[in-house]
Amino acid sequence: MSPDAFAARLAADRARVDAYLARVFDARQAAAPRLEEAMRHGLLVGGKRLRPVLVYLAGRALGAADAELDPSAAAVELVHAYSLVHDDLPAMDDDDLRRGQPTVHRAYDEATAILAGDALQTLAFEVLARAAHPRLPALMLTLAQAAGRDGMVGGQALDLAAVGGHPDVEALATMHAHKTGALIRGAVRMGALTAVVESDPRVAALEHYAQALGLAFQIHDDVLDVTGDTRTLGKASGADAARDKPTYPALLGLEGARTKAFELTEEALTALAPLGEASAPLAELARYMIERDH
Ligand code: IPE
Ligand code: IPE
Ligand code: MG
Ligand code: MG
Ligand code: MG
Repeated sequence: MSPDAFAARLAADRARVDAYLARVFDARQAAAPRLEEAMRHGLLVGGKRLRPVLVYLAGRALGAADAELDPSAAAVELVHAYSLVHDDLPAMDDDDLRRGQPTVHRAYDEATAILAGDALQTLAFEVLARAAHPRLPALMLTLAQAAGRDGMVGGQALDLAAVGGHPDVEALATMHAHKTGALIRGAVRMGALTAVVESDPRVAALEHYAQALGLAFQIHDDVLDVTGDTRTLGKASGADAARDKPTYPALLGLEGARTKAFELTEEALTALAPLGEASAPLAELARYMIERDH
């Protein structure tokens, strides 16, 4: 696929999940208008929608129809958006800018940001439950595990505990695999499980892909924090060093971190072999993940 064709496909998938999410919001009467506005601010304004795109690409690679994939694509973005709203809170990374806008606690207030995050998370499970896919329990379980104690939230706890400390590469990989990798893996699994049952060997191949990709993605996020500029990133650059966050560039140097992300991407591409030609868009996305400038 040419780079232009790939960019057009990315844009189309972003538009697709955005339209679905907009319908989710438009279909509901808001009980608390300010909360609703804060949720829209955290969810709908900006963002690359990479996790929904992963749901679509993984699902399509195994034969799922787009309409079947929409609820999982939306649900995983809802959880991701909640994680960002909370990640930016003063008690966590204390950031003022996200997706080129003031963070939710800056645009509204801290309590509203906490509640908006809470409600985005539960809305994710509501959206999934309403769609009632035949494998709903597996989809729910996948998302809950990816998001929670053994996934993103667990990783965020490791991240906060490591501030100012000196974790080794192994501890850093564990932290990244949880805080970021888990939801990326969850997105790929949800796409796959929409199409086929767990025992299909292609699910394991996709999980291997997602595991390598998820770590590469967070390493590249760490690299961009050093090399990117705030305007392009839509969030403050240099924030990790300013807060003494343990990162791959801090531990391995910039080139070491880049090499690691590249090796992991190669691993992700190799893992796709059992899927054959059907996995070409997933391969393109893996390359894009570590070449992106924001
Ligand atoms: C940012 O994720 C947080 C990380 C897990 C590194 P993204 O880079 O996907 O953020 P958005 O969704 O495009 O804003
Ligand atoms: C965030 O990691 C991971 C989440 C679970 C949100 P970061 O703290 O590095 O993400 P950014 O750089 O603020 O987007
Ligand atoms: Mg953080
Ligand atoms: Mg952060
Ligand atoms: Mg970061």
